Amino acid sequence: MKNETWLFGYGSIMWKTGFNFENRELCHVKGWTRRFWQGSTDHRGTPEFPGRVVTLIESASEHCWGTAYRLPASDANNILEDLDYREKGGYDRPDLSLTLDSGRTIAGTTYIAQPRNHNYLGESSLEDIARQISFSSGPSGSNKEYILKLHQTLEQYDIQDDHVATLAQLVLKQTESTL
Ligand code: BEZ
Repeated sequence: MKNETWLFGYGSIMWKTGFNFENRELCHVKGWTRRFWQGSTDHRGTPEFPGRVVTLIESASEHCWGTAYRLPASDANNILEDLDYREKGGYDRPDLSLTLDSGRTIAGTTYIAQPRNHNYLGESSLEDIARQISFSSGPSGSNKEYILKLHQTLEQYDIQDDHVATLAQLVLKQTESTL
C-alpha cells in the first residue's frame, strides 16, 4: 500500500510505544537476529557503567520476530523524529522489508545499532553479558527490568528467542545469588 509508514519494534517498542499507531501486527525480518550487543549509556546504564540493550545483527539463516506498527500518516514524521531523538545513543534507522504474520511483505523502518557506533559493545560470553545487565541502571530504569520485560513480552507473543531467554535466566540466577 502506498504511503504507509510501518515501524518494526523488536526491543522496548514492543511493550512501551509512547506513540499513536493505527495497526499493530506480529512480524519478522529475514536475515537478522536480536542480540544484547549495544551499550546503553543514556537509558539503562551510564557512561561510567554502560548497560546492554538489543540491536539487530545480520545472520542470513535467521529471522527476528517482533511487532510492526502502522503509523498515522498525519503524524508519522513527528513520531519518527521523537523516536530518533530517544534512540540517539548509537542507532540508525534504515529501511527494511517486513514480513507480517499474514504473509504480506511491506516496506518498513527500524532502529539498528551498527558496529561502527561509539556505544557498540559487540559479542561477549552470555555470563559476562548477564553480569553487566544484572548490575546496570540508568535514567530509564534498571537493565534487569529491561531484559525481564522483553522476555515477558516475547513470551506473551509466543516468540521464541533463545538468546533473550538464556540471558534472562542467567540474570535472575546472578541477582538471586547476590541477595
Ligand atoms: C525496538 O523496540 O525495536 C528498539 C527501540 C530502540 C532501539 C532498538 C530497538
